[in-house]
Amino acid sequence: MSKCLLRGRTLSFHRRPENLEDKGAYTYQEDGALLIQAGKIVAAGSYSDVKPQAGEDAEEIDHRPHLIMPGLIDTHLHFPQMQVIGSYAANLLEWLNTYTFIEEQRFASAEHAARFAAHFFDEMVRHGTTTAVAYCSVHKVSADAFFAESLKRNMRMVAGKVMMDRNAPEALTDTAQSGYDDTRQVIADWHGKGRNHVAITPRFAITSTPAQLEAAQALAREFPDLHIQTHLSENRDEIAFSCSLYPQAKDYTDIYEIYGLLGPRSLFGHAIHLSEREMDAMSESGSVAVHCPTSNLFLGSGLFPMRKLQNRQKPVRIAVATDIGGGSNYSMLKTMDEAYKIQQLLGERLNPLESFYLMTRGNAEALSLDNHIGALAPGLDADLVVLDMASTPPMALKAETVSTLSEELFLLQTMGDDRAIAETYIAGEPAKSALGMPR
Ligand code: GUN
Ligand code: ZN
Repeated sequence: MSKCLLRGRTLSFHRRPENLEDKGAYTYQEDGALLIQAGKIVAAGSYSDVKPQAGEDAEEIDHRPHLIMPGLIDTHLHFPQMQVIGSYAANLLEWLNTYTFIEEQRFASAEHAARFAAHFFDEMVRHGTTTAVAYCSVHKVSADAFFAESLKRNMRMVAGKVMMDRNAPEALTDTAQSGYDDTRQVIADWHGKGRNHVAITPRFAITSTPAQLEAAQALAREFPDLHIQTHLSENRDEIAFSCSLYPQAKDYTDIYEIYGLLGPRSLFGHAIHLSEREMDAMSESGSVAVHCPTSNLFLGSGLFPMRKLQNRQKPVRIAVATDIGGGSNYSMLKTMDEAYKIQQLLGERLNPLESFYLMTRGNAEALSLDNHIGALAPGLDADLVVLDMASTPPMALKAETVSTLSEELFLLQTMGDDRAIAETYIAGEPAKSALGMPR
């Protein structure tokens, strides 16, 4: 298998940085290198240390002066919503009923799903996202199309066939039994194939009957290693409707608790308006609250209390995500720009080191996949991004003033988008330039 040596400035996080001076949280190499073989990082360090390990046969690619980081990770988005982005609605439930539940019906067609799977993976690669956690539609063929494309591109992806058996158009519903059977089949067909991971995916309490949440619980018991993903506490009307459908539950979180769906592999999209009791339940179970800033602003859902969740006596694990197509941009850089602004409105700080930690190692930890992705270390997947802080004329002007790493990261986050991704590597292979599209 051919070897490859990448040279550039390298940055990788070990843990969440406490502040801008927290140098122990990361390793930065001004002249760094990665040795890659068979899709994995074999060595990482300074160029002078790594170069001698490469041997004569390694191809050397010089990315200086750009910054090489682990690939970006998006922990919540919807593959069938690429054409829902930018739909004009007053709030979540209007947006779902007017646009989303109509559009997702088109994914009953295998051809349509295959066409959009190709577009979806192109956009991930173009935006530097090397792992994503996706909702497919209710149709098994949508999950088949997603995972087939992921396998073809050799990407580490997490996704699930959505389970939804009420409060949606008939053409977009399964039943408790068929949702269970189809999910089992998706697991049998795709989980562990290539780098595919299947997630158990009940959409949310509004669109699942108690019988369906029981079926999700049965799946979670049978396949305890799988991720579970759903939505929680995004919008006040959604909360009220959910609680009215499950009157025996103490609150929205308790609905999922009753059905055994909380836990360290459970990802709860949004989780904006949680009570102290709900936060305790999330914390005690190790569940993850997934912050989706562009979506929360676009749908007017609310301001995610990141610091309240993290700094309480019982902290809640958090992750960050685009939530395409409630979210309005595929870029994790743009996502963190909006996350920053939300914390500003709450009177809190979000420093750029922490933002870049969250998009990489932080999200990998939230997915319990940090043994595979999220850092530049031997043995990990060689999924990488190469970042260019001077990728547009206005960025190049601002870049003239940059003298520190955190200033560079803040510029990338504030002004960057897909154009700032100079290259994306998937399992050691350059994938963005291979798309043959303009940067
Ligand atoms: N809640 C249930 N389904 C969805 C969805 O598709 N997008 C968002 N933002 N919230 C949801
Ligand atoms: Zn969502």
